[in-house]
Amino acid sequence: MSLQPHDDLTGARVLITGGAGFIGTALRTALARAGARPALLDNLSAYGPTTLTLLGTGPTDPDLTVGDINDEPLVRRLVADADYVVHAAAHSSVHGCTTDPQTAVRSNLTGTDTVLRAVSGARNMRRFLLLSTAQVYGHGAPHTPRPEQAGFFTEDQPLDPLNIYANSKLWAERHTRQLLGVAGRDYTILRPFSVYGPGQVPKPGAASWVVAQFTMYAALGQQLLLNNGGHQLRDFIYRDDVAAAIVRSLTAPRAAGQTLNLGTGTPTSVRQVAEHVRRHFPAADIVDAPRVAQDPLGACADTARMHDVLDWSPAVSVTEGIDRYVQWVRTTPNAIPDWMRGETSTSRITSWRVPASL
Ligand SMILES: NC(=O)c1ccc[n+]([C@@H]2O[C@H](COP(=O)([O-])OP(=O)(O)OC[C@H]3O[C@@H](n4cnc5c(N)ncnc54)[C@H](O)[C@@H]3O)[C@@H](O)[C@H]2O)c1
Repeated sequence: MSLQPHDDLTGARVLITGGAGFIGTALRTALARAGARPALLDNLSAYGPTTLTLLGTGPTDPDLTVGDINDEPLVRRLVADADYVVHAAAHSSVHGCTTDPQTAVRSNLTGTDTVLRAVSGARNMRRFLLLSTAQVYGHGAPHTPRPEQAGFFTEDQPLDPLNIYANSKLWAERHTRQLLGVAGRDYTILRPFSVYGPGQVPKPGAASWVVAQFTMYAALGQQLLLNNGGHQLRDFIYRDDVAAAIVRSLTAPRAAGQTLNLGTGTPTSVRQVAEHVRRHFPAADIVDAPRVAQDPLGACADTARMHDVLDWSPAVSVTEGIDRYVQWVRTTPNAIPDWMRGETSTSRITSWRVPASL
């Protein structure tokens, strides 16, 4: 059944925390296309100047306020000026949170609390969107409609966060429901699966973001390392599709109070990604590596609720998306960060180890 036409976003002011990041910058473009007025808040902690330029932002961006989500007066002022808030700011890599838990707590817990309390008090706020993550499912217990099929994670199943990042996002989900539920504010929680696409630049030490990693390492003539043999299942959703889903979620009438997976519903193993990348770089060497602790075995998104509530489907298949990413790296070689050039397979495997102090 089709939904009512979505509200018009023309002229709506949408605050994107973490707006200078990989998803935030794509969302800004999608919102501007929809006639909205995006405003970005970001402390520019995730990327250097080259990556920010590639993402179409930087300190002189007129839509960007450079600041921290823990700056309460600033957050209150920006939230008071907004009709909608999309909370995308986070210390957003599993590895980054594991090796620097204090920053994870400051950004993902304390900062989220600051944003939520500002939203609670903002009488004209139309909707708050939290970008959570599929990592909250952990290894989970995916349901398998047929034994030979891959498993699917469904929004209401038990959650099993395996690492500090996932745990911080689950806390953010619960805090959103508690604070905004009491305040009577409209909110939606989104759980994107593995987001990828042009503009994505890996973060040091991270084992995730494999489309970007495999492509860049292949372009550098380095090995593609498959931790756990690459048997982990993921659901890769293209960056522009995620941005489109977020725009839909702002105004979809039945998204109020909902938690929605954002995925394609197509399972892909990490090994399949490496093999597809190798079609573009036939000399690439694919090598098995040890399993990374706290890396979920994964499953695919059950997308039934997403389709139903948003009346929307992703447009880009994983093979087409990887092809576009490879093309982007080929035409944008300066996207490959310098730290990747000095890596060896051994240094990469060593950096994936969880610190013994945890
Ligand atoms: N990329 C993915 O595959 C993926 C998947 C699921 C969920 N998510 C979630 O989506 C959101 C956006 O992810 P992304 O891939 O764009 O990550 P990103 O790291 O590219 O963007 C996050 C942005 O938040 C900013 N930031 C971090 N701490 C901040 C703070 N204290 N104050 C202000 N700004 C701060 C960073 O500078 C960065 O620009 C995150 O919440 C992430 O957890 C991402």
